[in-house]
Amino acid sequence: MALHGLGKVTIGVPNLAETIGYYTEFGLDHLGEGRFATRDGGEQLHVVQAPQRRLLDLTVAADHPDDIATVARRLDALGMPIKHGPSAVRTIEPVTGTVVRVVVRARITIDPPVPATPYNGPGRIDRWGRAPFLSRVERVRPRKLGHAVLGSTDLATTMRFFVAGLGFKVSDYMGDKAAFLRCSVEHHNVLVMAAPVNFLHHTSWQVDDIDEVGRGAHAMLEGHPERHIWGLGRHHAGANFFWYLKDPAGNFSEYYSDMDTVPEDELWSPNVLEGLQGLYAWGPPPPPSFLEPDDLAALMTGAHSNNG
Ligand SMILES: [Fe+2]
Repeated sequence: MALHGLGKVTIGVPNLAETIGYYTEFGLDHLGEGRFATRDGGEQLHVVQAPQRRLLDLTVAADHPDDIATVARRLDALGMPIKHGPSAVRTIEPVTGTVVRVVVRARITIDPPVPATPYNGPGRIDRWGRAPFLSRVERVRPRKLGHAVLGSTDLATTMRFFVAGLGFKVSDYMGDKAAFLRCSVEHHNVLVMAAPVNFLHHTSWQVDDIDEVGRGAHAMLEGHPERHIWGLGRHHAGANFFWYLKDPAGNFSEYYSDMDTVPEDELWSPNVLEGLQGLYAWGPPPPPSFLEPDDLAALMTGAHSNNG
Protein backbone atom coordinates (compact mmCIF):
# COMPACT_ATOMS: atom_id res chain seq x y z
CA MET A 1 0.00 0.00 0.00
CA ALA A 2 1.37 3.31 -1.01
CA LEU A 3 1.08 6.32 -3.19
CA HIS A 4 1.46 5.17 -6.79
CA GLY A 5 1.60 8.19 -9.08
CA LEU A 6 -0.16 11.34 -10.18
CA GLY A 7 -3.88 11.08 -10.70
CA LYS A 8 -4.76 14.31 -12.38
CA VAL A 9 -3.92 18.00 -12.82
CA THR A 10 -6.32 20.91 -13.16
CA ILE A 11 -4.83 23.86 -15.02
CA GLY A 12 -6.41 27.30 -15.15
CA VAL A 13 -5.90 29.25 -18.39
CA PRO A 14 -7.15 32.59 -19.72
CA ASN A 15 -7.76 31.23 -23.24
CA LEU A 16 -9.83 28.12 -22.61
CA ALA A 17 -11.07 27.15 -26.10
CA GLU A 18 -7.63 27.53 -27.68
CA THR A 19 -5.98 25.50 -24.92
CA ILE A 20 -8.59 22.73 -25.16
CA GLY A 21 -7.78 22.58 -28.88
CA TYR A 22 -4.08 22.25 -28.11
CA TYR A 23 -4.42 19.31 -25.71
CA THR A 24 -6.79 17.60 -28.12
CA GLU A 25 -4.08 17.85 -30.79
CA PHE A 26 -1.49 16.75 -28.20
CA GLY A 27 -3.25 13.39 -28.23
CA LEU A 28 -5.39 13.43 -25.09
CA ASP A 29 -9.01 12.30 -25.39
CA HIS A 30 -11.36 15.24 -24.84
CA LEU A 31 -14.24 14.01 -22.70
CA GLY A 32 -15.95 17.41 -22.89
CA GLU A 33 -15.82 20.66 -20.91
CA GLY A 34 -12.02 20.69 -20.78
CA ARG A 35 -11.71 17.23 -19.23
CA PHE A 36 -9.15 14.94 -20.86
CA ALA A 37 -8.26 11.27 -20.53
CA THR A 38 -5.00 9.54 -21.33
CA ARG A 39 -4.95 6.23 -23.16
CA ASP A 40 -4.43 4.15 -20.00
CA GLY A 41 -4.88 6.49 -17.04
CA GLY A 42 -8.48 7.69 -17.35
CA GLU A 43 -9.26 11.35 -16.69
CA GLN A 44 -5.94 13.07 -15.96
CA LEU A 45 -6.31 16.67 -17.11
CA HIS A 46 -8.93 19.33 -16.56
CA VAL A 47 -8.45 22.70 -18.22
CA VAL A 48 -10.60 25.49 -16.80
CA GLN A 49 -10.98 29.25 -17.19
CA ALA A 50 -8.76 31.42 -14.96
CA PRO A 51 -7.45 35.01 -15.09
CA GLN A 52 -3.90 33.75 -15.66
CA ARG A 53 -2.29 30.40 -16.19
CA ARG A 54 -1.66 28.34 -13.07
CA LEU A 55 -1.85 24.88 -11.57
CA LEU A 56 -5.09 24.89 -9.59
CA ASP A 57 -5.32 21.32 -8.42
CA LEU A 58 -3.02 18.30 -8.22
CA THR A 59 -4.32 14.83 -7.43
CA VAL A 60 -2.01 12.11 -6.15
CA ALA A 61 -3.16 8.50 -6.42
CA ALA A 62 -3.01 6.10 -3.47
CA ASP A 63 -3.82 2.40 -3.09
CA HIS A 64 -5.89 2.17 0.05
CA PRO A 65 -7.86 4.17 2.65
CA ASP A 66 -5.02 3.41 5.10
CA ASP A 67 -2.72 5.50 2.88
CA ILE A 68 -5.21 8.37 3.07
CA ALA A 69 -5.25 8.15 6.86
CA THR A 70 -1.43 8.12 6.96
CA VAL A 71 -1.15 11.18 4.72
CA ALA A 72 -3.83 13.00 6.72
CA ARG A 73 -1.88 12.37 9.93
CA ARG A 74 1.35 13.62 8.38
CA LEU A 75 -0.29 16.77 6.98
CA ASP A 76 -1.97 17.40 10.31
CA ALA A 77 1.38 17.10 12.08
CA LEU A 78 2.74 19.79 9.74
CA GLY A 79 -0.17 22.04 10.65
CA MET A 80 -1.75 21.87 7.20
CA PRO A 81 -5.50 22.45 6.95
CA ILE A 82 -7.12 19.21 5.76
CA LYS A 83 -10.51 17.88 4.72
CA HIS A 84 -10.47 14.17 5.21
CA GLY A 85 -12.81 11.38 4.13
CA PRO A 86 -12.20 7.64 3.97
CA SER A 87 -10.95 7.65 0.38
CA ALA A 88 -9.57 11.17 -0.06
CA VAL A 89 -7.79 13.94 1.77
CA ARG A 90 -7.68 17.52 0.51
CA THR A 91 -5.26 20.24 1.50
CA ILE A 92 -3.55 23.31 0.06
CA GLU A 93 0.13 23.54 -0.77
CA PRO A 94 1.12 26.50 1.38
CA VAL A 95 3.36 28.42 -1.04
CA THR A 96 1.72 28.03 -4.44
CA GLY A 97 -1.87 27.75 -3.17
CA THR A 98 -2.41 24.63 -5.29
CA VAL A 99 -5.21 22.41 -3.99
CA VAL A 100 -3.66 18.98 -3.45
CA ARG A 101 -5.74 15.86 -3.05
CA VAL A 102 -4.64 12.33 -2.29
CA VAL A 103 -7.32 9.92 -3.45
CA VAL A 104 -7.73 6.16 -3.64
CA ARG A 105 -7.46 5.33 -7.31
CA ALA A 106 -6.73 2.10 -9.17
CA ARG A 107 -3.17 1.61 -10.39
CA ILE A 108 -2.67 2.02 -14.13
CA THR A 109 -2.14 -1.43 -15.56
CA ILE A 110 -1.40 -2.27 -19.18
CA ASP A 111 -2.10 -5.94 -19.77
CA PRO A 112 -0.45 -7.28 -21.78
CA PRO A 113 2.36 -4.72 -21.53
CA VAL A 114 3.35 -2.76 -24.62
CA PRO A 115 6.05 -4.89 -26.29
CA ALA A 116 9.59 -3.48 -26.51
CA THR A 117 10.28 -1.68 -29.77
CA PRO A 118 12.96 -3.57 -31.71
CA TYR A 119 16.01 -1.49 -32.69
CA ASN A 120 18.96 -2.84 -34.66
CA GLY A 121 22.49 -2.56 -33.31
CA PRO A 122 26.00 -3.40 -34.49
CA GLY A 123 26.18 -7.17 -34.94
CA ARG A 124 22.57 -7.50 -33.85
CA ILE A 125 19.49 -7.46 -36.04
CA ASP A 126 16.35 -7.23 -33.97
CA ARG A 127 14.18 -6.16 -36.86
CA TRP A 128 14.36 -6.91 -40.57
CA GLY A 129 12.98 -4.77 -43.36
CA ARG A 130 11.40 -1.38 -42.81
CA ALA A 131 11.31 0.13 -39.32
CA PRO A 132 8.04 -0.55 -37.52
CA PHE A 133 7.44 3.10 -36.63
CA LEU A 134 6.85 3.82 -40.33
CA SER A 135 3.56 1.98 -40.09
CA ARG A 136 2.40 4.12 -37.19
CA VAL A 137 0.06 6.52 -38.90
CA GLU A 138 -2.28 7.50 -36.07
CA ARG A 139 -1.62 10.51 -33.88
CA VAL A 140 0.41 9.87 -30.77
CA ARG A 141 -1.77 9.24 -27.73
CA PRO A 142 -0.02 9.61 -24.36
CA ARG A 143 -0.35 6.63 -22.03
CA LYS A 144 -0.48 8.54 -18.77
CA LEU A 145 0.39 11.70 -16.89
CA GLY A 146 3.92 11.22 -15.56
CA HIS A 147 4.92 14.36 -13.70
CA ALA A 148 4.28 18.02 -13.03
CA VAL A 149 6.90 20.71 -12.37
CA LEU A 150 6.14 23.59 -10.05
CA GLY A 151 8.04 26.81 -9.57
CA SER A 152 7.88 27.89 -5.92
CA THR A 153 8.98 31.12 -4.26
CA ASP A 154 9.80 29.06 -1.14
CA LEU A 155 11.45 25.84 -2.23
CA ALA A 156 12.12 24.52 1.30
CA THR A 157 8.48 24.87 2.36
CA THR A 158 7.10 23.31 -0.82
CA MET A 159 9.59 20.43 -0.51
CA ARG A 160 8.63 19.87 3.12
CA PHE A 161 4.98 19.73 2.06
CA PHE A 162 5.59 17.02 -0.54
CA VAL A 163 8.19 15.00 1.37
CA ALA A 164 7.21 15.28 5.04
CA GLY A 165 3.52 15.93 4.35
CA LEU A 166 2.59 13.67 1.47
CA GLY A 167 5.42 11.12 1.70
CA PHE A 168 7.22 11.73 -1.60
CA LYS A 169 10.85 10.55 -1.83
CA VAL A 170 13.75 12.64 -3.16
CA SER A 171 15.31 11.03 -6.27
CA ASP A 172 17.88 13.72 -7.16
CA TYR A 173 18.70 17.34 -6.46
CA MET A 174 19.64 20.07 -8.92
CA GLY A 175 22.09 21.87 -6.65
CA ASP A 176 20.01 23.76 -4.12
CA LYS A 177 17.65 25.02 -6.83
CA ALA A 178 15.30 22.09 -7.42
CA ALA A 179 14.48 18.54 -6.37
CA PHE A 180 13.07 15.58 -8.26
CA LEU A 181 10.44 13.86 -6.12
CA ARG A 182 8.71 10.54 -6.66
CA CYS A 183 5.57 8.90 -5.33
CA SER A 184 5.78 5.88 -7.63
CA VAL A 185 8.47 3.64 -9.11
CA GLU A 186 9.28 6.32 -11.68
CA HIS A 187 12.18 8.70 -11.03
CA HIS A 188 9.99 11.78 -10.65
CA ASN A 189 6.33 12.60 -10.39
CA VAL A 190 6.81 16.13 -9.08
CA LEU A 191 9.74 18.46 -9.49
CA VAL A 192 9.82 21.58 -7.36
CA MET A 193 12.12 24.40 -8.41
CA ALA A 194 13.01 27.72 -6.83
CA ALA A 195 11.41 30.53 -8.83
CA PRO A 196 10.70 34.25 -8.51
CA VAL A 197 6.97 33.53 -8.85
CA ASN A 198 4.77 30.50 -8.19
CA PHE A 199 3.88 28.93 -11.51
CA LEU A 200 3.34 25.69 -13.41
CA HIS A 201 6.45 24.96 -15.47
CA HIS A 202 5.26 21.83 -17.27
CA THR A 203 3.25 18.66 -17.27
CA SER A 204 4.73 15.51 -18.77
CA TRP A 205 2.98 12.72 -20.61
CA GLN A 206 4.35 9.23 -21.21
CA VAL A 207 4.48 7.76 -24.71
CA ASP A 208 5.70 4.35 -25.87
CA ASP A 209 9.23 5.05 -27.06
CA ILE A 210 11.59 7.62 -28.55
CA ASP A 211 9.86 7.39 -31.93
CA GLU A 212 6.59 8.44 -30.30
CA VAL A 213 8.34 11.37 -28.58
CA GLY A 214 9.58 12.49 -32.00
CA ARG A 215 6.39 11.73 -33.91
CA GLY A 216 4.26 13.52 -31.32
CA ALA A 217 6.36 16.68 -31.35
CA HIS A 218 6.68 16.61 -35.14
CA ALA A 219 2.90 16.55 -35.53
CA MET A 220 2.41 19.35 -32.99
CA LEU A 221 4.95 21.55 -34.78
CA GLU A 222 3.42 21.20 -38.23
CA GLY A 223 2.05 24.67 -38.94
CA HIS A 224 2.90 25.72 -35.34
CA PRO A 225 6.66 26.29 -35.05
CA GLU A 226 5.96 28.65 -32.13
CA ARG A 227 5.05 25.65 -30.00
CA HIS A 228 8.62 24.36 -29.95
CA ILE A 229 10.48 24.84 -26.67
CA TRP A 230 13.21 22.20 -26.31
CA GLY A 231 13.95 18.78 -27.75
CA LEU A 232 14.73 16.19 -28.81
CA GLY A 233 17.03 15.32 -25.95
CA ARG A 234 17.67 13.02 -23.04
CA HIS A 235 17.67 14.08 -19.42
CA HIS A 236 20.42 13.09 -17.02
CA ALA A 237 18.13 13.03 -13.97
CA GLY A 238 15.52 10.40 -14.75
CA ALA A 239 17.22 9.66 -18.09
CA ASN A 240 14.01 10.09 -20.05
CA PHE A 241 13.88 11.14 -23.68
CA PHE A 242 12.08 14.49 -23.87
CA TRP A 243 10.57 17.07 -26.16
CA TYR A 244 8.92 20.17 -24.68
CA LEU A 245 6.18 22.13 -26.38
CA LYS A 246 4.17 25.15 -25.25
CA ASP A 247 0.40 25.37 -24.94
CA PRO A 248 -1.43 28.58 -25.98
CA ALA A 249 -1.57 29.74 -22.33
CA GLY A 250 2.21 29.41 -21.88
CA ASN A 251 2.36 26.11 -19.97
CA PHE A 252 4.91 23.63 -21.29
CA SER A 253 3.87 20.08 -22.05
CA GLU A 254 6.40 17.28 -22.50
CA TYR A 255 6.31 13.98 -24.31
CA TYR A 256 8.61 11.53 -22.53
CA SER A 257 9.64 7.89 -22.71
CA ASP A 258 12.05 5.50 -20.96
CA MET A 259 12.39 7.09 -17.53
CA ASP A 260 14.55 5.58 -14.76
CA THR A 261 12.62 3.47 -12.28
CA VAL A 262 13.27 2.78 -8.62
CA PRO A 263 12.00 -0.64 -7.54
CA GLU A 264 13.14 -0.35 -3.90
CA ASP A 265 14.03 2.84 -2.09
CA GLU A 266 17.20 1.14 -0.77
CA LEU A 267 18.45 0.65 -4.35
CA TRP A 268 18.57 4.35 -5.15
CA SER A 269 20.82 7.11 -3.80
CA PRO A 270 20.01 10.71 -4.67
CA ASN A 271 22.70 12.65 -6.51
CA VAL A 272 23.28 16.37 -6.34
CA LEU A 273 23.58 17.44 -9.97
CA GLU A 274 25.24 20.73 -10.74
CA GLY A 275 24.70 23.19 -13.57
CA LEU A 276 23.58 21.96 -16.95
CA GLN A 277 24.22 18.32 -15.92
CA GLY A 278 21.06 18.50 -13.87
CA LEU A 279 19.15 19.59 -16.91
CA TYR A 280 20.17 17.18 -19.63
CA ALA A 281 22.62 14.55 -20.81
CA TRP A 282 22.39 15.35 -24.50
CA GLY A 283 20.34 17.35 -26.96
CA PRO A 284 20.32 20.92 -28.18
CA PRO A 285 21.23 23.46 -25.50
CA PRO A 286 18.18 24.50 -23.48
CA PRO A 287 16.88 27.90 -24.52
CA PRO A 288 16.81 30.56 -21.76
CA SER A 289 13.01 30.53 -22.01
CA PHE A 290 12.98 26.91 -20.79
CA LEU A 291 14.24 27.83 -17.33
CA GLU A 292 12.57 31.21 -17.23
CA PRO A 293 9.46 31.19 -19.39
CA ASP A 294 8.82 34.41 -21.30
CA ASP A 295 5.68 35.23 -19.33
CA LEU A 296 7.23 35.07 -15.83
CA ALA A 297 7.36 38.86 -15.49
CA ALA A 298 3.73 39.10 -16.56
CA LEU A 299 2.78 36.38 -14.07
CA MET A 300 4.60 38.27 -11.32
CA THR A 301 2.64 41.43 -11.95
CA GLY A 302 -0.57 39.45 -12.34
CA ALA A 303 -1.09 40.65 -15.89
CA HIS A 304 -3.16 38.40 -18.12
CA SER A 305 -1.03 36.50 -20.59
CA ASN A 306 -2.94 35.36 -23.61
CA ASN A 307 -0.28 34.33 -26.01
CA GLY A 308 2.53 33.25 -23.72
FE1 LIG B 1 9.84 16.89 -17.42
